[in-house]
Amino acid sequence: MAREFTSVGVVGLGTMGAGIVEVFARNGIDVVAVEISEAALARGRANLTGSTDRAVAKGKLAEADRDALHSRVDFQVGLDALHAVDLVIEAVPEHLDLKQRIFAQLDKVCKPEAILATNTSSLSVTEISVATTRPNQVIGIHFFNPAPVMKLVEVVRTVVTSADVVADVEALGERLGKVDVTISDRAGFIANALLFGYLNHAVSMFEGRYATREDIDAAMKLGCGLPMGPLALMDLIGLDTAYEILDTMYRRGGRDRRHAPVPLIKQMVTAGLLGRKSGRGFYTYERPGSPVVVPDDQTPVASQAALADGARAIAKVGVVGSGTMATGIIEVFAKAGYEVVSVTRGAEKSAKVFETVKTSLNKGVVRGKLSEEDREAALGRINWSATLEHLADVDLVVEAVVEELSVKKALFASLDEICKPGVVLATTTSSLPVIDVAMATQRPADVVGLHFFNPAPVMPLVEVVQTIRTSPETTATARAVCAALGKTGVVCGDRSGFIVNALLFPYLNDAVKMLEASYSTADDIDYAMKLGCGYPMGPFELLDVVGLDVSLAIQRELYLELREPGFAPAPLLEHLVTAGYLGRKSGRGFRDHTRR
Ligand SMILES: NC(=O)c1ccc[n+]([C@@H]2O[C@H](COP(=O)([O-])OP(=O)(O)OC[C@H]3O[C@@H](n4cnc5c(N)ncnc54)[C@H](O)[C@@H]3O)[C@@H](O)[C@H]2O)c1
Repeated sequence: MAREFTSVGVVGLGTMGAGIVEVFARNGIDVVAVEISEAALARGRANLTGSTDRAVAKGKLAEADRDALHSRVDFQVGLDALHAVDLVIEAVPEHLDLKQRIFAQLDKVCKPEAILATNTSSLSVTEISVATTRPNQVIGIHFFNPAPVMKLVEVVRTVVTSADVVADVEALGERLGKVDVTISDRAGFIANALLFGYLNHAVSMFEGRYATREDIDAAMKLGCGLPMGPLALMDLIGLDTAYEILDTMYRRGGRDRRHAPVPLIKQMVTAGLLGRKSGRGFYTYERPGSPVVVPDDQTPVASQAALADGARAIAKVGVVGSGTMATGIIEVFAKAGYEVVSVTRGAEKSAKVFETVKTSLNKGVVRGKLSEEDREAALGRINWSATLEHLADVDLVVEAVVEELSVKKALFASLDEICKPGVVLATTTSSLPVIDVAMATQRPADVVGLHFFNPAPVMPLVEVVQTIRTSPETTATARAVCAALGKTGVVCGDRSGFIVNALLFPYLNDAVKMLEASYSTADDIDYAMKLGCGYPMGPFELLDVVGLDVSLAIQRELYLELREPGFAPAPLLEHLVTAGYLGRKSGRGFRDHTRR
């Protein structure tokens, strides 16, 4: 018969423990909440009160329900208080020896039939379980941060966990309104194994001054629709916890260099910059524990005037190309009030681009987002041409032709001859080095990357790629133009994948490797990232949308440029592409789209 869980214990009331207490108490289960000292207990109580008060303020929890919730929690110092509970969840810091010690004690204190669970993110549940005399009743229940919000729990069974214990914990997860994925005991389980390489990489970008913290975070939020950027997420997780997770994953997970914690993390932990919980991490917070970011000495000045500082005036813009990106970019500039010269390879192509822009603008009119006059004005601002000579007097050229270096270089050499001095020359390349294109001209200081995302009229992000020859004035101009277009321009260096693709594709590739290793299924991996991390799509959904061939090409570029062994494309990805399974566009990728 299935176990009844009428009371549970939670050990450690920090970032995770306090949230876990809330989850149980909200669902009518009595909780014994345990800390190491009175002071820690007071902090734990404050964590719980802060979270439930915020829920009340947001209208997500009635005051009476909050009071009932608190009445179910019994705060205690010391593990002895757990003698009568049916289940204990341990959420103390991520150290194996500490957890083993606690489990040995729990084994003595708790009644024989009680289940002992750990919320560890990366340690071996098996190694923790052998500290007890009941390893068959030890299991991992990995909640996600913030526990009351995130829907996922990873249930981790070891080779000795009893089947009935797994089944009872799965049923409990359902009772708590969570979705569970049950997996075996591997470093990082599903979500963290895919998340932490990405987080560490983002920190290394910041450490290497490749981009600012705001730009790295904005890039991932706006470019991928993530709920928060990687550095803000590090602050939420806690840098000390993140350090331990990375370190354990590095040691347990095959010494993948991408999990070796970036030195900056250790320095910040040593300096007490732990993230939100200490009031300062990558960002500065109103006070310890507060989610509210306050300005500090790294906060950029956000005013329009500051953005325009040093920027050249741009009124007339040339766009070269007639593909998807060029078409979207023409629309974006024309709609924002710029005079546009569109150069394509002939009248037929221009006519096609014109039709596409018109159709897209019409949609805006139908949806009430654009007036008919504005549509006509935007269309009227576009001049159609088949010759580059018409770019002689523009202030900015945006190149969006085929992704081939020889073609782009030849084009930039021509632009160098035709365009007036002082014009900013921009390429939309997503994978080629901008410096190669810049050096095809005699004015590399005026060349910059403007990496728009598809569809350009919709996506709010533009990566502004500066080479080692790009002048500050050119970068300032590019940034100001992005702002005038209503987009967020993030400035980064000229490295393969810029910010977004460099952080996104290795994660997708890792997901393919995880599937290939039969650790989990595509469905569960997609669930884990959506419900555990709040991603808008799981990695396999996204790969099928982006196209497996495109993803493979980007991953190959990253691997070739950065020579990071962990970036080697997953063999399964290569095989699917060879087999013609390219994703939605071919009807089949990781999933079969013909039957839906
Ligand atoms: N932070 C996250 O985003 C996250 C997400 C999922 C899982 N986890 C895991 O949850 C666990 C806890 O992490 P955290 O971020 O909440 O850590 P934390 O540092 O915020 O909190 C740990 C708490 O444990 C208490 N503690 C220490 N020793 C104790 C003892 N002997 N008895 C009772 N309490 C004790 C500390 O006083 C502290 O309040 C770790 O295993 C971590 O890997 C963390």
